[in-house]
Amino acid sequence: MTPSRATPPKRRATRSPKPPTPSAAGIGTIPLPGSPKPHPALGLGLWGLGRWDPEDEARTKATIGRAYEVGFRWFDTAEVYGNGRSERVLGDVLRRTANGAPDAFLVTKVSWEHLRPAQVRASLVNSLERLARDAVDLYLVHAPDPHVPLAETMGALEALWKEHRVGAIGVSNFGVEELEEASRHLSEARIVVNQVRYNLFDREDADPVREYCERQGILLEAYTPLARGLLHGKYLDGKRVPPEVRRFTNRIFEPDRLPEILRRARGLRDLADEAGVPLASVALHWLRWRGAAPLVGASRPAQIDENLAAWSVRPPDEVLRKADAIAWGDLA
Ligand SMILES: NC(=O)c1ccc[n+]([C@@H]2O[C@H](COP(=O)([O-])OP(=O)(O)OC[C@H]3O[C@@H](n4cnc5c(N)ncnc54)[C@H](OP(=O)(O)O)[C@@H]3O)[C@@H](O)[C@H]2O)c1
Repeated sequence: MTPSRATPPKRRATRSPKPPTPSAAGIGTIPLPGSPKPHPALGLGLWGLGRWDPEDEARTKATIGRAYEVGFRWFDTAEVYGNGRSERVLGDVLRRTANGAPDAFLVTKVSWEHLRPAQVRASLVNSLERLARDAVDLYLVHAPDPHVPLAETMGALEALWKEHRVGAIGVSNFGVEELEEASRHLSEARIVVNQVRYNLFDREDADPVREYCERQGILLEAYTPLARGLLHGKYLDGKRVPPEVRRFTNRIFEPDRLPEILRRARGLRDLADEAGVPLASVALHWLRWRGAAPLVGASRPAQIDENLAAWSVRPPDEVLRKADAIAWGDLA
């Protein structure tokens, strides 16, 4: 059933809608049921961007600005990233674009510590203030909190959706049972996205969720798609892996696993070289081939250009099939 909502309230006059630029169309989009905007196929995540030291702010802003300029439209942030700094910096950069970037697809998340109904509402109000927007395109539950019933959280999200303060509702780091439970507590709205950690070397947790999401028509957003740069070729030639890079990488950089992971990653690089494509093209399109939408990170403008260049080359299915086997350890 197509969800129905009351007529949208009038937006502020400063936000005149404009069609997407030709380069945004180059990234491609994925239809999102019930959402007024389609979901861009590749996004930029703003978690570690700039690491939030004051001196990094100019570089952070330049990176976001470059991303918008070359056609990125999906920007992913969260109230917890840099304690709101990520949202504020994103809001600042987009506000300064020619017409306020009405075609941006903005995603933010309510913290797992704020899942009671009044907290959800307050979190969104604060996020919108930092982002300088009337609404976000997609609002995600960052992670479940076993102490707060999902009925409460989902009810609060649906109310915000009916008020047009969020274009669509999603979740993050949800397993199949949590998705089923959360869906039961929505009446008109539905969960359209689940954002999970997913890349060629980290798929055991995501794969069962992916299959469920595919059956339910829920888009899987894949975070850490480049395994923190490893799948861009970083660390393949002896560069030390800094300790902070290991966070949320499911142990792929731990000493007992790293040598084998590096061996497979070099196999992937050889495969990409033979096919005449960047390694990152293989990593990103392997995700898209499996139905997911990759959400890359980047800490400087040059990485934006490299990642977009990688996205613009779609390796043949045969290469993606071989990559799948190499990363899994069946080949090379
Ligand atoms: N929902 C959740 O719980 C959750 C959890 C984690 C992440 N996320 C989201 O997913 C986004 C992406 O995650 P991620 O940062 O782990 O993704 P990633 O794309 O796997 O890693 C990004 C890092 O890879 C390196 N990199 C990117 N492009 C590169 C290039 N062209 N050449 C060399 N190195 C390159 C950079 O490292 P350096 O900066 O070291 O150069 C960059 O910071 C986050 O920003 C966040 O929005 C969500």
